[in-house]
Amino acid sequence: MTELLTVVLAAGKGTRMQSTLPKVLHQVGGKAMLQQVLDAANDAGSKRNVVVVGFGGETVKTAIGTQAEFVVQTEQLGTGHAVAQAADLLKNIDGTVMVLCGDTPLLTGNLLKKLYDEHKKAGAKATVLTAIMPDANGYGRIIRTKAGAVEKIVEQKDAAPQELLVREVNSGIYCFECKVLFKALENLNCDNAQGEYYLTDVLEILNKSGEKVWAVTADNYEETLGINSRVQLAGAEKIIRQRKNIELMNQGVTILDPDSTFIDKNVQIGKDTIIYPFTWLEGETVVGEHCEIGPNSRFTNTKIGSFVTAHFSYGHDCELEDEVIVGPYVHLRPQTKIMKKVKIGNFVEVKNSTVGEGSKLPHLSYIGDADIGSGVNMGCGTITVNYDGKKKFRTVVGNDAFVGCNSNLVAPVSVGDGAYVGAGSTITKDVPPAALAIARQRQRNIEGWSDKRS
Ligand code: UD1
Ligand code: MG
Repeated sequence: MTELLTVVLAAGKGTRMQSTLPKVLHQVGGKAMLQQVLDAANDAGSKRNVVVVGFGGETVKTAIGTQAEFVVQTEQLGTGHAVAQAADLLKNIDGTVMVLCGDTPLLTGNLLKKLYDEHKKAGAKATVLTAIMPDANGYGRIIRTKAGAVEKIVEQKDAAPQELLVREVNSGIYCFECKVLFKALENLNCDNAQGEYYLTDVLEILNKSGEKVWAVTADNYEETLGINSRVQLAGAEKIIRQRKNIELMNQGVTILDPDSTFIDKNVQIGKDTIIYPFTWLEGETVVGEHCEIGPNSRFTNTKIGSFVTAHFSYGHDCELEDEVIVGPYVHLRPQTKIMKKVKIGNFVEVKNSTVGEGSKLPHLSYIGDADIGSGVNMGCGTITVNYDGKKKFRTVVGNDAFVGCNSNLVAPVSVGDGAYVGAGSTITKDVPPAALAIARQRQRNIEGWSDKRS
């Protein structure tokens, strides 16, 4: 059996983006557009992806890494010329190559699979994916014979007035039989309005030599939309967010206001979790069941257990176990693990620390580079003094310890199991288990200090 492989065109500058970043690396739904295209190709069963790079090629290669092979198109002489750059790699392969553009982030694996299956079923040498556009402006038009067969594709700039009325357009996505494609590419010329080597001309060449050319029309034109400007980027973002929200709601997640909820493609959320407005869930974030997340919260690459409440808070690259309560106004920074039933809230920052089961950090604390046991109470305003200006040091607080309000724990330092720290202490020496440490000046009252007595 022959295998599906792809060539993804990504050499263009994307001038209308007005950006120093190559167009295909702009993100939609939290992922680079080119990555979305590769994901769709892989979902459709592609075994090998070749990306044609040009403008910003090194940046594109770094972003995609080993997921694809790369060929370089040094001068952008047109889509036909771009595909021809892959000739050395692919021209002798007995198989189907799907040509894709790196700027169509709304594609799905299902649509590409349908294109491939119908191409195979028809026994065609070339099959173009078409779409019926509400506004065909800018696209190549599909010109069919009276019998309905695809005769050729005419670019907007080369089209006759009659042809411009056609609303069936070329999506820029095709399946070709490899050997036939690369042979036809040798016969392209640039005798057209843009002076470019058009890939679209391959269809006319194949028709003329009696090869079968076929077309598949997408049910939903949105999937084939190409992004050329920031305005279109925002439009695609909206569609992709909407898709994700609908998928999650169908899986049993409540999203109170989908229009103000931003969830990246790879995020997973369990049943009966409620997402409140103005919530961003990004990257590889996973949320369990029966949680309440938001409003006004952002979690990036965060693992959240079940029955967690997190509101008005931000966490990134951290983990929250079941039944944790977070917020309002909490910042959880990388390498932080919050164990079961912990309560953190009201302006608390935690970094590179573990907080044991059932502990409380309820108000105004900075906890950095600390290992806090279970059942600990960190009083309001407790600070770990973890940095001496050169190095960071760890603080260890044992199980069931009680740290009084407004204390400084100057690391490296430990507070033993069941120990107490008196409010307002600055602790610089280890506190033994079950001891009470008080490290502050004893109060003096000086009588008669002022005459303001009522
Ligand atoms: C192309 C099609 C048009 C189709 C439209 C769909 C041709 C001649 N026209 O037009 O029929 O309706 O896509 O969006 O193919 N690229 C390169 N190297 C080049 C030129 C382009 O890699 O030398 C890449 C671009 O980065 C982009 C893709 O090919 O990803 C399409 O190129 P673009 O210039 O956008 O073609 P269109 O004019 O939109
Ligand atoms: Mg284009």
